[in-house]
Order: sequence, then C-alpha cells, then structure tokens
Amino acid sequence: MTPTASASATPSASPTASASPAGTDAAASLWVVVNKRRPLNPLNYVPGNLVTPKFEDGAGSNANGFQLAKPAAKALKQMATAMKAAGSGTLFMSSAYRSYQTQVAVHAKDVAAYGLAVGENLAARPGYSEHQTGLAVDLSALGQGCNIRVCFSTTKAGKWLAANSWQYGFILRYPDGQTPTTGYQFEPWHFRYVGTDLSTAMHSAGVTVLEKYFKLPAAPAY
Ligand code: DAL
Ligand code: ZN
Repeated sequence: MTPTASASATPSASPTASASPAGTDAAASLWVVVNKRRPLNPLNYVPGNLVTPKFEDGAGSNANGFQLAKPAAKALKQMATAMKAAGSGTLFMSSAYRSYQTQVAVHAKDVAAYGLAVGENLAARPGYSEHQTGLAVDLSALGQGCNIRVCFSTTKAGKWLAANSWQYGFILRYPDGQTPTTGYQFEPWHFRYVGTDLSTAMHSAGVTVLEKYFKLPAAPAY
C-alpha cells in the first residue's frame, strides 16, 4: 500500500508538505492525520487489512493477541528484532488496533479516572483515535516497567524506540512539548506507522509531528 498514486509511481521520492490532500484524509492511507479536528471518515471505520503480528519470541511480545494493519505489523516485527539485537530489550505490545466500540470504553475509563480535561489529553473520543486505523501501537518492554507511563521515556527500550523507530517507518506521535499541536500529553509509548518514506523525510527535516509536517491546523481541542 502506498499513500498516493504519485508516491507509488516514484517510490524513491520523499513525501512533501504539498503531497495530495487525499494522502492525509483517507482513513486507509498510511499518511492519514487523525486528531481532535480530524475524525475518521467514516467515524466507525474498520481497516480491511488487520493481522495479528507474531514475533520471533513466540507469543511473548503479543501475548494479548493485538491486531495491526499489515504493513505496520511487518515493520513492528522488524523493529522488535532490531531492538533486541541492540540490547534494548524485548518489545511488548500494550495496545494496537482498537475498534470504535473499544475506544468508547478506553475513553470512558480515562475520563472517569482523571476527569474530562486530563482524560481527553490521554484518550481520544471514538472515531478520533488513530488506534482505529490499525496504524498505531502502544509499546513497552518486558521487565522494564513504566508500561503506558511517561517514565517509559527513561527506559532502555523507550530511549531506543524514540531514537530508532523512524528507521522502521514509525514516529513517536505525541512528543514532549507538542501538546498545543497534537492535543495529547507526552505519550512516549504511542508509535504510529507512516511508512519509511514519510518517517525518513520527517526525521531529515527535524519535524516531529504530522500536523506541522503537512501544514495542518493545530488540534488542541475538539
Ligand atoms: N491515546 C491516544 C491519543 C488515543 O486514545 O488514540
Ligand atoms: Zn496509543
């Protein structure tokens, strides 16, 4: 799957801010930008290419059987192998694809626990979560703690992923200090697959968030 026809015609070309708007709008696009101002279309979108990633360590890394869109699953397995080879630990999937209905529950739980403002800086409303695209994954590492916590950024795995995930087509979607643009607190565990053309272009340009790369409006609130 390629984000746009032109990208497919010239696979070595880097995506640019002038890329076709269809690239960031279509729910099935690797470049789709989903945020508090950009719901999925349709709101109850279900990806057609979900698979359950299986890792070299058997069930360990995906003990809960989470699903991802096929290209994201393939890249995640390669990233897990590289992370282990680098001595940074064994990847563990804490969440991945979430249906509209699952996101109803995730959003309700965080809002009940933290209140609306803090809860909605952590959990998207259903129809507004990139977990629903099958391209987002929450990562931790076996035995390193800080699972779905800000301190994951201080673990061996969290540091390795932050530095290296772009080489596998992933971006850290909610970086520290970008809340006014993304609408979400620092989430060092949440990685979004965008493909290596885009992750490499963003890395080279030093732009960390999709909204800025594609010159889209900031999305601090609904
Ligand atoms: N935690 C992210 C923002 C989500 O719920 O999609
Ligand atoms: Zn997430």
